[in-house]
Amino acid sequence: MKYTLRIEEVFHAFREDLDQVEQILLESLHSDVLLISQVGRYVFKSGGKRMRPLLTILSSQLCGYEGTDHYRIAAVMELIHTATLLHDDVVDHAEIRRGARSVNNLWSNETSILMGDFLFTRSFCMMVEHHDLRLLDLMAHTCRLLAEGELLELAKSGDPEIGEEDYLAIVQKKTAVLLSASCQAGAILARCGQWEDELASFGMNLGMAFQLVDDLLDYEADEEELGKTIGKDLSEGKVTLPIIQTLKRCPARERRRIQEIIRSRSTDPGDLQLIHHAIERHDGLAHTLRTAQGYVERAKACLSGLPEGLPKSALLAVADFVASRRK
Ligand code: IPE
Ligand code: IPE
Ligand code: MG
Ligand code: MG
Repeated sequence: MKYTLRIEEVFHAFREDLDQVEQILLESLHSDVLLISQVGRYVFKSGGKRMRPLLTILSSQLCGYEGTDHYRIAAVMELIHTATLLHDDVVDHAEIRRGARSVNNLWSNETSILMGDFLFTRSFCMMVEHHDLRLLDLMAHTCRLLAEGELLELAKSGDPEIGEEDYLAIVQKKTAVLLSASCQAGAILARCGQWEDELASFGMNLGMAFQLVDDLLDYEADEEELGKTIGKDLSEGKVTLPIIQTLKRCPARERRRIQEIIRSRSTDPGDLQLIHHAIERHDGLAHTLRTAQGYVERAKACLSGLPEGLPKSALLAVADFVASRRK
């Protein structure tokens, strides 16, 4: 049967499964080192959408998985995601995460980095306990790409010559691969070779859209709703799709001026305003949204041959949510 679901209904329908994941996340913080459970609880209690564990649960169910290991593997995805956020907030000098002070801000950069390391390694211990070399291989490869993506972005920061291809490579590596792995892992768990590629591609396209929308929200979100400081990308020298699109479309003189501002890493409010106006005039945000919607459509198409039912409808609802999300 075909259902059309809203994202709230999906989270509601899978609340009990996600509660199991939550329990495992808290248990993963067991340590003699008090700081680990303090910081860990702070992070896990501060919210977060739990998109990646949800994807693992839905994908495994879509593939007919009937065991209970999917909760631990779903938790692994969230542990890895959280570790990347702890590192990312240091790299990006973030002050707010999930509407509260980020760990680097409340404790220190050192705490955030080392806690990230703890969560990364904890996730690998959990995978080793699961004894599935294919899954370990997938996640080791994924983590390598995540690090590469963040490093590539760092290397390109302040570079106004960055093109759409470089930008999309960053997005794929730093974000999309983990959403892809979260879906693929569900198929691996269920030993369902038949739909593994489709689920991996669904997650990859979804992840591309997810980061494009994140980059859009950095320009136009409601800070309170988003739970992060907006306008950070430009002030940190990050050239994302709204600017790349604008540079493509604007007259040469304006392009040179924008490139100069980016290259000099100017934080002058007048300079930043000039870029904001250019983005507005050349529809940089609308273009980014259209590109993201294209990825969402491609993601949904990947599922066309998969069996109808609640898990598939829920994955499609997640895809629609990604295109329209405000947080
Ligand atoms: C934030 O991810 C980092 C990106 C990949 C853009 P989420 O928006 O999924 O973060 P939480 O877990 O819901 O806070
Ligand atoms: C998101 O990076 C990808 C990660 C690997 C954490 P961003 O720097 O774009 O994400 P936010 O905006 O801080 O969540
Ligand atoms: Mg970042
Ligand atoms: Mg960041």
